[in-house]
Amino acid sequence: MTVVRTLFDEAEIARRVEQLGGEVAAMLPKDAAVVGLLKGSFVFVADLARALARSGLTPSIEFLKLSSYGAARTSSGEVRLVSDLTADMAGRQVLLADDIVDTGRTLAFARSLLLGRGAERVVTCALIDKPSRREVDINADVVGFTVPDVFVVGYGIDHAERYRYLPYIATIDPDP
Ligand code: IMP
Ligand code: MG
Repeated sequence: MTVVRTLFDEAEIARRVEQLGGEVAAMLPKDAAVVGLLKGSFVFVADLARALARSGLTPSIEFLKLSSYGAARTSSGEVRLVSDLTADMAGRQVLLADDIVDTGRTLAFARSLLLGRGAERVVTCALIDKPSRREVDINADVVGFTVPDVFVVGYGIDHAERYRYLPYIATIDPDP
């Protein structure tokens, strides 16, 4: 039986995302592009976009779908582009948003993809950071919560496609 324990409840997430919106809005022009990474960031981006709007931004919203090949938990994990952007990033100031930075491979891949597409500047934002798991030399510019090496679900984040619907963030113990 999987044990689900709340780590960050709805109110705590809402408060933090509102703060992130203010922080990030101060770093970017009004017409910045928000690029979320699917699927994990879909709830975060929905809330962050509205927080940015309350801080005066009118961002466009884009998504990139990436997948980790092999075990994302080993140094051989490689990232693949599954679904591309539909907008031109040339000359744009971009906020790259993801759910979790773990090894850092996904964020590093997405960041260089955007720069390769001509983005003028890429600010990175992760709701959750697991610095102890880093394998690639990258850190998000803005982080919501820092956690130790625990497996989290909820608020868009899954385990084998489950739990994305949870309105809070929880830890789960791996199945025996
Ligand atoms: P990275 O490329 O190793 O940094 O992995 C980032 C991606 O791995 C995240 O966007 C998540 O999709 C996934 N991931 C890492 N840690 C967790 C976790 O605790 N729960 C669910 N997914 C995770
Ligand atoms: Mg992800």
